[in-house]
Amino acid sequence: MLTLITGGAGYIASVVALSLLENGYNIVIFDNLENGHREIIDALKKIEAKGKVVDFMEGDLREQSDISAAFSKHKIDIVLHFAAHIQVEESTQNPQKYYINNVCGSMNLLGAMLANSVDKIVFSSTAAIYGEPESVPIDENHRLAPINPYGWSKFIVEKILNDYEAAYGLKSVSLRYFNVAGADRHTRIGEWHEPETHLIPNILAAINNQERIFQIYGDNFNTRDGTCLRDYVNVEDLADAHVFAMQYLLDGGTSDCFNIGTDEGYTVKEVLDACEKITQKKIEKIIVKRRAGDSAMLVADSQKARKILNWKPKRSLEDSISSAYKWYLKAVK
Ligand SMILES: NC(=O)c1ccc[n+]([C@@H]2O[C@H](COP(=O)([O-])OP(=O)(O)OC[C@H]3O[C@@H](n4cnc5c(N)ncnc54)[C@H](O)[C@@H]3O)[C@@H](O)[C@H]2O)c1
Repeated sequence: MLTLITGGAGYIASVVALSLLENGYNIVIFDNLENGHREIIDALKKIEAKGKVVDFMEGDLREQSDISAAFSKHKIDIVLHFAAHIQVEESTQNPQKYYINNVCGSMNLLGAMLANSVDKIVFSSTAAIYGEPESVPIDENHRLAPINPYGWSKFIVEKILNDYEAAYGLKSVSLRYFNVAGADRHTRIGEWHEPETHLIPNILAAINNQERIFQIYGDNFNTRDGTCLRDYVNVEDLADAHVFAMQYLLDGGTSDCFNIGTDEGYTVKEVLDACEKITQKKIEKIIVKRRAGDSAMLVADSQKARKILNWKPKRSLEDSISSAYKWYLKAVK
């Protein structure tokens, strides 16, 4: 059994890779290192586990020949597809970059899969495909109405996956992650984005650099304290969801989509308070204007994943902040 992981030098995919290795799966990693890190690949290669990193292929999904080479070189059984550009605000300023990478890149991957008779894929989708929700919690039947090109790029790939199932029998699971947080509990791998746009690592960075004033993007949203409210799912819980989704497809499961969240929401101010409590440090904050493309409230109803994939989140927001903080102190300069 060999699993191809696209984007495996990035944050989430590398934690999932770790979990796969520990569960005895062999993996091939494909990444162009545009936003990923060679150090992460090196760390994964050093892990002593039942599974192993069979190969790291540096390549770009936007080049058909790069991704086709991975399938020519290895007999792949299933694909976990994480590689994408991920910054919501940047996607509003440069949609071309997002559609080419996230949509055309995915199509090149799917083309290579079809050409090599690989018919199972787990796709990293996002809560951003729901846009501004009509009500929360959000289940999978909620209308899909992204409010930024990043969300649309994921929506389009989900649509393509549905069409490819109908036409070619390609089986897919789209996991719609809510906000992912935390690090490996042994601090081997964690969140490492440049630039970092995610809330928790930015709070931790501000806490550790007292000259930095933490900026809250808007306090006039329709939420309990006016700041954005999100559902923070722990990255190791998310890794479990991938293992279950893979197993579901390998056991003959039909194509489907699942929300992956905790079903609980926290506002930016609440996350700030929790970070201050865990680190026992205070930071200075200011309110600045909203970022383009931010929804007020995103909270999952993840009952479908709990019922069908037998997944459930085991870690709290505090667990995520604690592991992220340990990782920050170890790895981030
Ligand atoms: N971080 C979150 O909270 C969150 C929430 C919902 C969905 N997601 C999705 O999860 C996935 C992983 O996110 P992440 O936070 O780990 O991001 P990341 O930037 O850390 O990882 C993405 C990886 O993909 C690689 N990559 C990008 N384009 C590529 C290409 N054309 N060819 C080869 N490699 C390429 C990057 O170099 C990077 O290593 C993304 O698809 C993202 O949309 C993330």
